[in-house]
Amino acid sequence: MAEMKTQKTILMLLLSMLLIAGSAYAVRPTQTHELVATMPDSGGLSRESFPDGFVFGTATSAYQVEGMADKGGRGPSIWDTFVKIPGLIPDNATGEISVDQYHHYEEDMNILADLNFEAYRFSISWSRIFPEGTGKANSYWLYDVPWGLYKALHYVKERYGNLTIILSENGRDDPGNLTLPWALNDTARISYYEGYLGELKKAVDNGVNVVGYFAWSLLDNFEWRLGYTSRFGIVYVDYNTLKRYPKLSAYWFMEFLRRNKH
Ligand SMILES: *[C@@H]1O[C@H](CO)[C@@H](O)[C@H](O)[C@H]1NC(C)=O
Ligand SMILES: *[C@@H]1O[C@H](CO)[C@@H](O)[C@H](O)[C@H]1NC(C)=O
Ligand SMILES: *[C@@H]1O[C@H](CO)[C@@H](O)[C@H](O)[C@H]1NC(C)=O
Ligand SMILES: *[C@@H]1O[C@H](CO)[C@@H](O)[C@H](O)[C@H]1NC(C)=O
Repeated sequence: MAEMKTQKTILMLLLSMLLIAGSAYAVRPTQTHELVATMPDSGGLSRESFPDGFVFGTATSAYQVEGMADKGGRGPSIWDTFVKIPGLIPDNATGEISVDQYHHYEEDMNILADLNFEAYRFSISWSRIFPEGTGKANSYWLYDVPWGLYKALHYVKERYGNLTIILSENGRDDPGNLTLPWALNDTARISYYEGYLGELKKAVDNGVNVVGYFAWSLLDNFEWRLGYTSRFGIVYVDYNTLKRYPKLSAYWFMEFLRRNKH
């Protein structure tokens, strides 16, 4: 949960826009490679729509993907204790195994690079660094933003001046019980990202100093109070085999982020 230290000039503005989706798709199951031909285009948006040096990445936090809760010299974090309260989280789920990024790190970084992202915002568990729980308490800047992204970014500019902003979490979920072929056809997630990236470009074009964007999240993972009943990944994870399957939205990002298209 703890945020990585960043340069002083950079405000980690957590615009938390996690939209909880309610319903399953009413579509025919299929496989991702069959879907790519039907993939919506990015409506003219591409990496070139953003300034040189603008960083695109995906975000996650250690507890939600790492697994190995009691290995690697890590002491219990507040979450390890909290999530064990019976009845708190659907199916009494915990992040103890999650998607086991501890052992799949190289694979996951290769997926990230293949999708043309260049950054991964991975917040590390303080309890791995301070096994005795001696670290300073985590703080989480959670901005509840009821208005649109463009208005929110403009508000920050008007209120706080020309701050350097990184949009560090932006994503939407699907129900955790979608079967694999259904989950792969995540056209609603594509529309969501296309909408937000369009708003983001508008803000950048109007002088808001945003220098980076991080999609939440690379992988389906342990989603706190929702346990595994909610899937935020652009890559599907089969929690039994831990195999990763890029969803259509992953291919959409790969296309969106491709360099030198012209
Ligand atoms: C994928 O989802 C879209 C939108 O819901 C739907 O129109 C399309 O038919 C689906 N594709 C397949 C192959 O099921
Ligand atoms: C969760 O744990 C509680 C207490 O141990 C138990 O009563 C309940 O049946 C468990 N629920 C599930 C879905 O396993
Ligand atoms: C905002 O700050 C950036 C550097 O962080 C600078 O390049 C830009 O010109 C500034 N914009 C305005 C309107 O002052
Ligand atoms: C998923 O669960 C929801 C309720 O939690 C239910 O309404 C829906 O029918 C389920 N979908 C599938 C595909 O099992």
